[in-house]
Amino acid sequence: METNGITHLAIAGGTGKLGRLIINGFAYRAPRLRITLLVRQGSSNKAHALVAGIARFSVRIVSFEDSGLQDLADALAGHDGVLSVVGGSGLENAQMNLARAAIRAEVKYFLPSQFGIDLNFGMNFLVREVDLKRQVRVLVKKHMHCIDIFCGFFSDEFLNEDFGWDLERHMVCVPGDGNKLCSFIDREDVARYTVEVVLQASKYEGQALRFATATLSYNDLVRIGEEVTGRLFTVTRASRLGAEGVTGDDLGFSNGQNSKAAQMQLVVANGDAQVDALDYKLSNKLFPIVEPGSAEDSLRALFGRQ
Ligand SMILES: NC(=O)c1ccc[n+]([C@@H]2O[C@H](COP(=O)([O-])OP(=O)(O)OC[C@H]3O[C@@H](n4cnc5c(N)ncnc54)[C@H](OP(=O)(O)O)[C@@H]3O)[C@@H](O)[C@H]2O)c1
Repeated sequence: METNGITHLAIAGGTGKLGRLIINGFAYRAPRLRITLLVRQGSSNKAHALVAGIARFSVRIVSFEDSGLQDLADALAGHDGVLSVVGGSGLENAQMNLARAAIRAEVKYFLPSQFGIDLNFGMNFLVREVDLKRQVRVLVKKHMHCIDIFCGFFSDEFLNEDFGWDLERHMVCVPGDGNKLCSFIDREDVARYTVEVVLQASKYEGQALRFATATLSYNDLVRIGEEVTGRLFTVTRASRLGAEGVTGDDLGFSNGQNSKAAQMQLVVANGDAQVDALDYKLSNKLFPIVEPGSAEDSLRALFGRQ
């Protein structure tokens, strides 16, 4: 499969929180790239507003349901790359259907909606959302040039109950001994790196790229939070739940309010939330044009708002 990179890109999920930052980046950084936004009917207005006045962008309304697979493939005809930034319930079936349609349309590059912890690491299968992402990747890798972007946790979404934080009550549930490291990055920087990866896709065929701008443990974060607010956190500790023996069923995927929190605690306690662990290296330096901010500063600022 020899290619000259991506010249005609389709983006799914471009109206979302990460997607719109990426679209914005393409508007400035990619004057020759033609881009089609694939959106659901209900997001049509949002999508048109996002790309208004930029001639090389177009919007196509599609359905990601099983029944719309051929239409989706037709919409992808002639594109050489697909970037998926779908989130939320779109990770359940829509992204898989997008991948199937891309294969049918003989698209060469597929960048799946990863944007999180590394799927290669041990315990990540326990998190339903991550497992769904893995299934898509397995399919994509067989048929197209898959480029994965792993980036740990977005700084603006981390200090919430899914990760054991209750900033209002100044409480946190710390996984294990709290010393395992996690990768962090600002969402804006994920968008900027993603734009550059698409622009240089032929260099990174079949590769996983890793971006992070801070590596911190829960204990580091508690210290930072206490420094910034001048108040002590009430810290509880989650045990590793005998990690090796625990299955998704034991954790009750999607059942119970805190199931994602329990899954994430386990992943962190197992040391799987650092994208450059083991022998893996960060890819930031491959893209010197991006001058990222500091995720630690962003986390400090979030603590400071309390
Ligand atoms: N590492 C982290 O800490 C972190 C944090 C947040 C997100 N993420 C990841 O970043 C990626 C993007 O997340 P996001 O927060 O930007 O997502 P989002 O805003 O929740 O959704 C993005 C887009 O997905 C599409 N979508 C949602 N449900 C869909 C469905 N049922 N069928 C088809 N499309 C659907 C929508 O596009 P249309 O309405 O235009 O069709 C939506 O605008 C995901 O992979 C997410 O897991 C990572």
